[in-house]
Amino acid sequence: MKKITIKSPATIANLVCGFDVLGLALEAPYDLMTLELQDQPGLRIEHADGFGLPTIPEENVAGAALLAMLEQVSDAPGMKLTIDKRIMPGSGLGSSAASAAGAVFAANQLLGKNFSTNDLIRFAMYGEKVASGVKHADNITPCLLGGVSLIRSILPLDVVSLDAPAMFITVVHPQIEVRTSDARQILKKEVPLKLAIKQWGNIAALVAGLMQGDHELIGRSLEDVIIEPARSILIPGFDQVKKACMEAGALGGGISGSGPSIFMLSKSHQTALEVEQVMQEIYRNIGIDFRTYVTSLNKKGITITATLS
Ligand code: HSE
Repeated sequence: MKKITIKSPATIANLVCGFDVLGLALEAPYDLMTLELQDQPGLRIEHADGFGLPTIPEENVAGAALLAMLEQVSDAPGMKLTIDKRIMPGSGLGSSAASAAGAVFAANQLLGKNFSTNDLIRFAMYGEKVASGVKHADNITPCLLGGVSLIRSILPLDVVSLDAPAMFITVVHPQIEVRTSDARQILKKEVPLKLAIKQWGNIAALVAGLMQGDHELIGRSLEDVIIEPARSILIPGFDQVKKACMEAGALGGGISGSGPSIFMLSKSHQTALEVEQVMQEIYRNIGIDFRTYVTSLNKKGITITATLS
């Protein structure tokens, strides 16, 4: 294979209570990426979108992930990566993870699939480090695997795919900037035991609810007593959106990744659409531009859309 095009999905990290340890893949939005072998050595990055992201491989999240991978390949061929980003950078929807995971997934296909999924997660985390200063796998893992992922540990890497019932996801992305590095810096380094107990009760129950297909238990467990109180102040309208969406029938939800997007889970498509209306109305009233998505759980992760031999 000389050329491959893939679809790399958006993801929601944390799933409210599971900071850095839980994530879920979305059907939409997604990035398109094309990787092709080149006669000239080295890695070239081009953008087919207007975001103006870096093209120097070391400074680009996809480039950094690919370089980490190519270090492990003897006689690595030259490659050109074209990124058509549709997941807005800085949205809290795993835009950097989609680039990093997509790049190493595509390269693994071109190079003969010698690397395991865990290897790909490890390489892709170099991209996350460029994006936020810290390695974390709660976007990368569901992006690669689809569905819901649990990251028990990143060193050593230990990830688990969780079953999940059909669910609909509504996302609102208020067009403000929240940098992941800033959203991490404002977090307290220590957690009172009382809050920790509440949090791990919620994480455990959320995992149980997902695996048992118990929507009500999932809803009750979407509670974050540690991260959300600190981060939600960065997102205008957060409390209002959450309250109104719950009243509209959402199971629960909260900040998507490090924000500013907010997501809500619903049992039916109809409820997810009603939740979208509520979100739109609130941001129209506040006067902040926004985008909304109503989508479902992506069970496949990254998929191949075209190849050329
Ligand atoms: N778990 C990470 C965070 C996701 O919340 O900072 C950021 O993409």
